[in-house]
This record gives sequence, C-alpha cells and structure tokens, in this order.
Amino acid sequence: MTKHKNVLITGASKGIGRVIAKYFADNNFNVFVTARSEDLLKDLFQYPNIKGYYACDLTHNCYDAYNEAVKILGNVDILINNAGGYVCSKIEKTSDEEISNLLRLNIEVPYKLSKCVIPDMKKRKFGRIINIGSISGIVGEAYATLYSMTKSSFVGFSKALALEVASYGITVNTIHPGWVDTDLIHTENQTFEDAELIETIPQRRFIEPIEIAVLAKYLASAEAKGLTGQSINLCAGISMG
Ligand SMILES: NC(=O)c1ccc[n+]([C@@H]2O[C@H](COP(=O)([O-])OP(=O)(O)OC[C@H]3O[C@@H](n4cnc5c(N)ncnc54)[C@H](OP(=O)(O)O)[C@@H]3O)[C@@H](O)[C@H]2O)c1
Repeated sequence: MTKHKNVLITGASKGIGRVIAKYFADNNFNVFVTARSEDLLKDLFQYPNIKGYYACDLTHNCYDAYNEAVKILGNVDILINNAGGYVCSKIEKTSDEEISNLLRLNIEVPYKLSKCVIPDMKKRKFGRIINIGSISGIVGEAYATLYSMTKSSFVGFSKALALEVASYGITVNTIHPGWVDTDLIHTENQTFEDAELIETIPQRRFIEPIEIAVLAKYLASAEAKGLTGQSINLCAGISMG
C-alpha cells in the first residue's frame, strides 16, 4: 500500500492556507499546520488527518515549527509555503519596520523552511515545494511595491532551486493567485472598494481558495513530476493585461 504523504502548510489558521489544509486532509494527506493563532489551529486540529500544529510567529521560530512537524509526521514530503503578509502603502510612506518584517515573512521564512526540507527529500528521492506567490509579483501592483517585490522573488527562487534538485525527484513551483477575498486584502490602508476592484479583473470575480488548493494538490502528486521551476498564474485573467 502506498504511504500517505506528509505535508507541512504554513499560514493555515485562516484564509487560503486553511482551505488548502482541509483539502489535503480530505484527500488523505497527513497534514501539519502552523501560524500564530493557536485557537484557530487547535480548532483545525479536530479535523481528520490534521496530525498536529505549532503556533508561532514564523519570523522568529520557523526552525522550531519545522522540528515539531518532523516530530509528529516523521518527515515532510510536501512543503507549502503559504504564510504571507501584505503592505498597502506608497513607497515613500513605507516604514523600515514594514520593510524588514515583510522581507522576513515573505522571503526569509520560505527560504529557511525549504532549506530544512531539502536534505531529507534528497534522501527519499521525492519532494514537493509549493510556494504561494501573488499575481502582484508578476504584473506589479501600485501601492504594493514591497509586496510585489517579495512575491516576485519566488520566480527566481523556484527556478534556481528546481534546477539544483532536479535529479532528486523534487519539484519546486509557485502558484501566483489573483485577488482572493480574505483578511489579507482588507487592510486599514485599503485604497479600493471590492466592487471597484472586481471591475479591474477580466473574469470579474475573486479567485476561490479551493481553486488554489486543487492546483496545489496536483503539483503535489506523483503525476506532476515533470512540472518544475514554474510560476503558474491562477488569477482570473489579470496576467493578460
Ligand atoms: N488574498 C489575496 O488576494 C492573495 C492573492 C495572492 C496571493 N496571496 C497570498 O496567499 C497567502 C495566504 O494569504 P491569505 O489571503 O490567505 O491571507 P490571510 O487570510 O491573512 O492568511 C495569512 C496566513 O498567514 C499567517 N501568518 C501571517 N503572519 C504570520 C507570521 N508572522 N507567522 C506565522 N504565520 C503568519 C496567518 O496566521 P496568523 O495570523 O494566525 O499568524 C494566516 O494563517 C499569502 O502568502 C498571500 O500573500 C493572497
């Protein structure tokens, strides 16, 4: 019998990450989740196949989160780098604190977790790293220079790491979603109304988190072994201009 794969999902307390976690659990993956909100993770832990959780600020503690995941799961076959933050601000108003915090959460954490999972994936000759980028990293977004910069970093990261580990059965890909109706986009500096925003999207709709979960599951599958180093725009048409 094939062993069910083990997956570590960051930022799974709410939004896109929570839907991905439930979808993978529903499909018989062994799932370990992390984020800061312990109550929300504890609630998810009641769900079948959610095997464990670790509540922490990943910018301080991502190695502890990884170690706890290995303690519970035994190993990590699939890493989903989903946790991320957003800053909506004119460049001249962006504070140094916002810059260092977002670089740490959106770039440093996925890099460090990838660094953790690779040695064991190499030994097992199987691994999947799936990053959740953003279409803002592909087409740019006014008043989101910092966010766009962090998310475009996944393009180079996925290509470079995919090349480095190509002969080990490990793939590295990034999904770049368009707008998804979660807490992330409703910041206190929000410069738009939802109805105005939808008018700018070719399909005139938000992306549903389940669309991202389904694509992530395909990328995690054995059948997707040839798909690596790619940036996939799941964006309701935004990338076409
Ligand atoms: N919503 C969109 O329109 C959209 C579009 C494209 C891409 N994305 C990307 O999709 C990913 C998920 O976003 P979302 O829309 O689902 O946002 P969300 O609802 O705000 O969820 C973000 C997740 O990240 C966790 N998180 C944030 N800061 C953290 C930290 N310092 N340490 C640990 N966990 C942290 C949050 O949990 P806690 O608060 O409990 O820590 C939460 O689980 C992000 O990478 C985002 O950039 C979103």
